[in-house]
Amino acid sequence: MDLSFDRIVPHIPFILEGIWVTLQFVSVSLIIGLLLGIILAIFKIGRFGILRFLANAYTSIFRGTPLILQLSIIYFGVPQFGIDISAYVAGVLAFGLNSAAYVSEIIRAGIQAVDKGQQEAADALGVPYRQTMLHIILPQAFRNILPALFNEFINLTKESAIVSVIGVMDLMRRAQIVNAQLYTYFETFLLIGLVYYILVMGLTLIGRFIERRLQRSD
Ligand code: ARG
Repeated sequence: MDLSFDRIVPHIPFILEGIWVTLQFVSVSLIIGLLLGIILAIFKIGRFGILRFLANAYTSIFRGTPLILQLSIIYFGVPQFGIDISAYVAGVLAFGLNSAAYVSEIIRAGIQAVDKGQQEAADALGVPYRQTMLHIILPQAFRNILPALFNEFINLTKESAIVSVIGVMDLMRRAQIVNAQLYTYFETFLLIGLVYYILVMGLTLIGRFIERRLQRSD
């Protein structure tokens, strides 16, 4: 066995700077996914057949193909149309577009999981659609949606390691750069594995805390 953690010590600050890159990358992707996901969810529960069809087709395509392929099409393929795109922008676009497919399903399912009786009761009382949605359905749907959204945040954090393939300087990429110089694969991968795990555990705890808060307000 030939492990030497001493050798990576001088490079640890360089690797750990990737935490910031990873977190920022994931947050921007999540925001793009959230905004687009909300729009898609509105289409899915709406009454316009064409929009419903388009939103469902979108979800089907983005969930039905590998994320790394979507990323490659945007980063390597789009420039063939004369559009220059940086690795970072290609990355957040691919992750944002991909996440929107998942987020739209989370929101749609969260809304449709609210008991039908709520809608019926509001209808019987003559509450207008807008108010029913805003004051009766959505507050209840929120309780189904938020934990699942946190789960998406966690998934994106782990999946984000894929952007290393197009050169975004995230945790994964930085570990690979150090490896190329020192051949300390095991040591650096163990280190970033620990970092990813701590990030995910942190998000899990925050998610659990919020979930409990929502339950208490029931
Ligand atoms: N592993 C999946 C793939 O390669 C990516 C899933 C992305 N997940 C997400 N929740 N946005 O296609």
